[in-house]
Amino acid sequence: MTDFCKLVNMPENDKQGLSVVTCTAPVNIAVIKYWGKRDEDLILPINSSLSVTLHQDQLKTTTTVACSRNFQQDRIWLNGKEEDINNPRLQSCLQEIRRFSRKRRNTGDSTSDASSVSHKVHICSVNNFPTAAGLASSASGYACLVYTLSQLFGVESEQLSAVARQGSGSACRSLYGGFVQWKLGTQLDGKDSLAEQVESESYWPELRVLILVVSAEQKSVGSTSGMHTSVETSQLLKYRADVVVPSRMEEMIRVIRERDFPAFGELTMKDSNQFHAICLDTYPPIFYLNNMSHRIISLVHRYNQYYGETRVAYTFDAGPNAVIYTLQDHLPEFVQVVRHFFPPEVNGEEFVKGLTVCSADLSEELKRDINMEPTPKGIRYIISTKVKH
Ligand code: DP6
Repeated sequence: MTDFCKLVNMPENDKQGLSVVTCTAPVNIAVIKYWGKRDEDLILPINSSLSVTLHQDQLKTTTTVACSRNFQQDRIWLNGKEEDINNPRLQSCLQEIRRFSRKRRNTGDSTSDASSVSHKVHICSVNNFPTAAGLASSASGYACLVYTLSQLFGVESEQLSAVARQGSGSACRSLYGGFVQWKLGTQLDGKDSLAEQVESESYWPELRVLILVVSAEQKSVGSTSGMHTSVETSQLLKYRADVVVPSRMEEMIRVIRERDFPAFGELTMKDSNQFHAICLDTYPPIFYLNNMSHRIISLVHRYNQYYGETRVAYTFDAGPNAVIYTLQDHLPEFVQVVRHFFPPEVNGEEFVKGLTVCSADLSEELKRDINMEPTPKGIRYIISTKVKH
């Protein structure tokens, strides 16, 4: 477990009998997608997946957990609003962490400031990005919750990602930085369905990420119910899980280790396309991509075609926003291409948020060869970020 930011930790025996821990956790974006469960209670996937963890300066969840003998019940606030603590996934995470903590205490293993595991907790969690807009807020949310609870209760375990997984499948990958795989595992109890780091955050420093936000609206079909219907109805999904993903996982790990961007980009796009093909193969079909997503896909292919190599790659989760992977050298020009073909609203708000992108000139030839009608205000804003350091 690396690089989490633990801000406050007051020992339990302070004056008010209150312990407080605050941690942050990152978002991750899959390049080999997780879609479908073989066990819905334990959240065990039907295929392995692989993701890139993003830098927390631009996208993160911050969670504070307080624990006191004076608290009457467990409570949780998400982005300032109290939510139902009886949500079964929240309950699984709380119960699992408390079970680990008891186990450690019984074996005399626990770090001494492990707050009393019998005390109730108050949890407060905020994101610095819109929830449920296809930006994987459940991943950073549950990773942060589980990690913060583990700090509060003095739990250190290889199994922490299995606990986060029971909050939301993709959350297990947010416990590590860099390039992370979630191995599907074979055990019925899910103990071997864990995340592990493939390469660290510093392995490929030239890799850059852009999130093209086309809509901040809540998605129509959540991933949980969407993948449930896909498992029930899509034959393609079975083929993907049995045949396609096992070889793609190996290939993805290889191209990341070789820092082979054209191969990484091509595989990333193909896997995103296959995931959305499965959504169409689901009955009734699920549409996560909209017109703007399709235009972004065309733009990326035309741009790559102009250079005769894959310089930029897209991937889409359960929503219309695009996540673009590219290399630092190609970033300024591609952002300028996006600006040209999706002229932003001129209202003073910055179009590119996050990491600064240098300006670049576009050649007339490039604009002509891309040959697309500009779509004014098609993209609301861009978040410029990179792999978590
Ligand atoms: C398309 O992890 O949100 O983003 O396990 O039901 O909570 P649950 O689903 P979730 O699904 C993420 C799906 C995805 C692909 C991915 O992140 O691998």
